[in-house]
Amino acid sequence: MSSELRLRVSEAADLTPAVRRFVLRDPDGGALPAYEPGAHVVVTVPAGHKRGYSLVEPGGARPREYVVCVRRDDAGRGGSASMHRDVTMGTELVVSAPANGFPLEPSPRYLFIAGGIGITPIRAMVRRLRAGGRTGVRLLYLTRSAAETPFLDEFGGPEDTVHHSDGHGPLDLWPHLAVPDDDVRVYCCGPAPLMRAVRTLTAHWRASRIHMEEFRAAGTGMSLPFTAVWAPDGRRVPVPAHLSLLAALRRAGVRVDSSCEAGVCGTCRLRVLDGEVDHRDAVSTEKERLGSMVACVSRAGSPEIVVGPYENEEPV
Ligand code: FES
Repeated sequence: MSSELRLRVSEAADLTPAVRRFVLRDPDGGALPAYEPGAHVVVTVPAGHKRGYSLVEPGGARPREYVVCVRRDDAGRGGSASMHRDVTMGTELVVSAPANGFPLEPSPRYLFIAGGIGITPIRAMVRRLRAGGRTGVRLLYLTRSAAETPFLDEFGGPEDTVHHSDGHGPLDLWPHLAVPDDDVRVYCCGPAPLMRAVRTLTAHWRASRIHMEEFRAAGTGMSLPFTAVWAPDGRRVPVPAHLSLLAALRRAGVRVDSSCEAGVCGTCRLRVLDGEVDHRDAVSTEKERLGSMVACVSRAGSPEIVVGPYENEEPV
């Protein structure tokens, strides 16, 4: 797990009726751990949940602040509501050091596709790339309406398409993706249906050219059923395609702690004793991936997997 910082909120302001921007700084004014575009931090919100938020600025070696934007989700599990309700200027929050499961790779050209609040990591990338006046950085930014579009005034350039579905319907992505191009990297972040659509429409592209912020689509699409064996008592737990390992174990009466349920905090980590793992999280180190998995998003890569408790951040 990443080390934790205690940061103070120095700015909190609405960007849209549902999206609030928070600036987090070291209370003593010190520099913060480095990060690059695509990175996220895990914030322990006042209500106690851990939530992963992408950093919206391009970052660098010694950033003075972390900036996150949080969309209030009234149908969610309370993390975003707590950020909106309980966090004001001066609030201190426990924040992880940045991790990056969605890094910006070199490429002659780029096509960025952002849906709604998915603009947050994409904005950091686009700003980094365009800082030197570079072209060949196309952006498709899809939102419901102008009023619900954070950073709208930043994306009016010749390589930007900002599309509002209200009154216009969804944007047809096929003209942008029909012809695969090895000189283009496609980065997509947004709601699960958008991620699925882009994955489908780029099935004929070289896989290495397609980059999706996977943890936002956790638990959706392209999952196969498997069987989990709970090592302490040998219980066999079927995990259907539509259910996470975490949910399946709980249904079977196994207690597993969780917090973010989005693959960014590591609370639900289990020891893996046998079987292959399809890691889908954004929190595990390479070493951790050798002997453990996070149950909320990762799945078995083999028909059967044997798992057990993971304690003290070291396999027991
Ligand atoms: S609950 Fe946070 S990674 Fe699973």
